[in-house]
Amino acid sequence: MSVTAIEKTKLAADFIRQQATVQPRLGLVLGSGLGVLADEITEANVVPYNEIPHFPVSTVEGHVGQLVLGKLEGQPVIAMQGRFHYYEGYTMQDVTFPIRVMKELGVETLIVTNAAGGINKNFNAGELMLIRDHINFQFNNPLIGPNQSEWGVRFPDMSEAYDPAYNQLAKRVAESFGVNLQEGVYVGVTGPSYESPAEIRMFGNLGADVVGMSTVPEVIVARHAGIRVLGISCISNMAAGINDQPLTHDEVMETAEQVKPQFIRLVKGIVQD
Ligand code: 6GU
Repeated sequence: MSVTAIEKTKLAADFIRQQATVQPRLGLVLGSGLGVLADEITEANVVPYNEIPHFPVSTVEGHVGQLVLGKLEGQPVIAMQGRFHYYEGYTMQDVTFPIRVMKELGVETLIVTNAAGGINKNFNAGELMLIRDHINFQFNNPLIGPNQSEWGVRFPDMSEAYDPAYNQLAKRVAESFGVNLQEGVYVGVTGPSYESPAEIRMFGNLGADVVGMSTVPEVIVARHAGIRVLGISCISNMAAGINDQPLTHDEVMETAEQVKPQFIRLVKGIVQD
């Protein structure tokens, strides 16, 4: 008989539990160039994705592909150093599998991070943005298919997907630590091509402030599972047509490098509170 999604999740979680000394309550998804935060985790147990039963394997440059469990500011955490993207050819279920596993391990709160292109003209490359809301422009949804009632409801509410109280905390922390933090709407697209200038104008008209190729599926699944979510985008570059710079993945990685200290300070401050 074939293994069900629920069984796969439990097998992966059992394997991770055996490797780890902490019981994580906070999950971190570290986006392109932002995996350095995992280096701040102490008493770390590292679990490569390719050793975990039923886990997909990451391919994108700048992503390591491992779980790091340990303590961040004294809190038991599990971090994904590298995530799975829909554009890599994974299914939506693959992309969000680690979130199901985190839930199974006892995660109640998730901080999702990403590199994103700036659409809002008041934003600058190298700034951080708190995700207030998202637009799903991936033409798919990880919850399509029979609902697993053990996991969540058929029609989960997305009206406060990014926890308002948690957002307030992030803003307080940013202010007290002197970290510049923008706030806005993330539109999730499939990629892997970057957008055309006309598409970026459209997204701006639709109310998006930044654009990226991740995050939305993971947040939908986290909310389905009743996990509280905070989202942070690192604006690695301005999107097509916003300025006249061509877009390269190298630029994305370079900017992530520059914003690293601020990003680490902000997340540590949020976790500590
Ligand atoms: Cl401009 N677009 C998308 N889709 N993803 C990005 C980006 C732009 N910049 C960083 N990630």
